[in-house]
Amino acid sequence: MDILGEKFVLDINHEDRIMPREELKERINDVDGLVCLLTDKIDAAIIARGMRLKVISNYAVGYNNIDLVEAAKRKIPVTNTPDVLTETTADLTFGLVLAVARRIVEADHFLRAGQFKGWSPGLMLGTDVHGKTLGIIGMGRIGKAVARRARGFKMKVVYTDTERLAPGIEKELDAGYCTLGELLKESDYVSVHAPLNEHTTRLLSVEEFRNMKKTAYLINVARGKIVDERALADAVQRKEIAGCALDVYENEPSVESGLLKLPNVVLVPHIGSASVEARTEMALMVARNVISVLIENRRPPNIVNPEIYD
Ligand code: DGY
Repeated sequence: MDILGEKFVLDINHEDRIMPREELKERINDVDGLVCLLTDKIDAAIIARGMRLKVISNYAVGYNNIDLVEAAKRKIPVTNTPDVLTETTADLTFGLVLAVARRIVEADHFLRAGQFKGWSPGLMLGTDVHGKTLGIIGMGRIGKAVARRARGFKMKVVYTDTERLAPGIEKELDAGYCTLGELLKESDYVSVHAPLNEHTTRLLSVEEFRNMKKTAYLINVARGKIVDERALADAVQRKEIAGCALDVYENEPSVESGLLKLPNVVLVPHIGSASVEARTEMALMVARNVISVLIENRRPPNIVNPEIYD
């Protein structure tokens, strides 16, 4: 905001709230650029109200909250914040893997509740992470960063994606390509890193959980709508899988109530990129993208719809 404030008159949504739709429709009317969050639904009706709108700069790498078709129709560049949050999000992924497998959150609560009466052979037994098989759904930037970490844990990595990686990259990551079905059958940890789109919405539901190992865990730091949350809660409850660790939810900020009651579930509030370093870099990127369009009159560095310049 400081950087943008030196160059533009800012209309800021100061409150710690999501701007109501009707208000956004009004306020977007006379702005040249929009900086939005993943919680702002920038659909066709909103974009259509931006009579002067020349750039939409999203403070997130995911941009499923923005109607790209409408933006393209109006030749409005849409930008995101790739790369700067990749390693941070991969760190959290491994934090969740370890937390759910080794019951770290549960053990912390146990101790604080005064229940730790001394070491015992069977106290808080979890599951190993090292040497197990990690299945990565979506081998983009974050999926690759997770695969690199898995090597440190001597894990076998398998992945599925719409396209297979080049042989050199597969070799570097030591990751084997397979179908979603094969991945679900084989993995001890299934980690979701795909973007949300019409192909990935509810990609994981009743059947998919049934195909996983009973001892396997699901991790999701991508987008909540990729997972059928009710079906996941049922699968964990019925012991069809061993547990899950989630950073994202189908209808944020609500969380399926069935999940809240289960001890073998770790739930954190969409904090994948929440480090001071990553969020600072994301903010700088957002500002740079706006400035490149509105001041420098050039294609923004992190455009997601470059075809508008064709
Ligand atoms: C993103 O950027 O898409 C994350 O979900 C939040 O940083």
